[in-house]
Amino acid sequence: MRLVVMVSGSGTNLQAIIDALHKGDVDVDIVAVGADKPCAGLKRAEAAGIDTFLVPLANYPEREQWNRSLERAIAGYNPDRVVFAGFMRIVDAHLVARFAGRIINTHPSLLPSFPGAHAVRDALNFGVKVTGASVHEVVADVDAGPILAQAAVPVTPEDTEETLHERIKSAERGLLVNALATLSREVTFDRPGEEQS
Ligand code: GRF
Repeated sequence: MRLVVMVSGSGTNLQAIIDALHKGDVDVDIVAVGADKPCAGLKRAEAAGIDTFLVPLANYPEREQWNRSLERAIAGYNPDRVVFAGFMRIVDAHLVARFAGRIINTHPSLLPSFPGAHAVRDALNFGVKVTGASVHEVVADVDAGPILAQAAVPVTPEDTEETLHERIKSAERGLLVNALATLSREVTFDRPGEEQS
């Protein structure tokens, strides 16, 4: 399964995929890692010898041009799946349609609770005792697509946004790798002309 992984930050979810494929735990090929800004995630990709590309929003006067440029960059790698692993930009409906049903996102809450960019803070402020991580298919509405996998994570009374996010991310990494392992088996089965066992 050919993957393009999009990142914006520290890239620990990306690293979990890289580590899993090196261990043979998941049958994927990360054909490229893209980002909207220079970040540690891109450096992790470079260190692993993976192709990288950068499509900075600031370089485009119109958001639509940025979307088209990102779409072309991703499509150039002909991926089976596109993984938004801590990619903190909202893409437009045209880009989602281009890769319909093939973009997956990881989100630090139990969706549909706490969508958006401040999911951990919002959960903490709400006072929930359990939150978690969700891996879901990307649709045009933000954090709204069909859920592929979820993991629950307890909230402790001492938690800050940082400590809670770290606990969620520990669960999120395994969840994402497992979801990709499941999807990679489906992609193999879907390929026309291949023998099925
Ligand atoms: C993850 O919790 C992701 O769900 C959220 O940002 C975090 C990214 O972490 N949107 P990393 O860059 O993979 O370390």
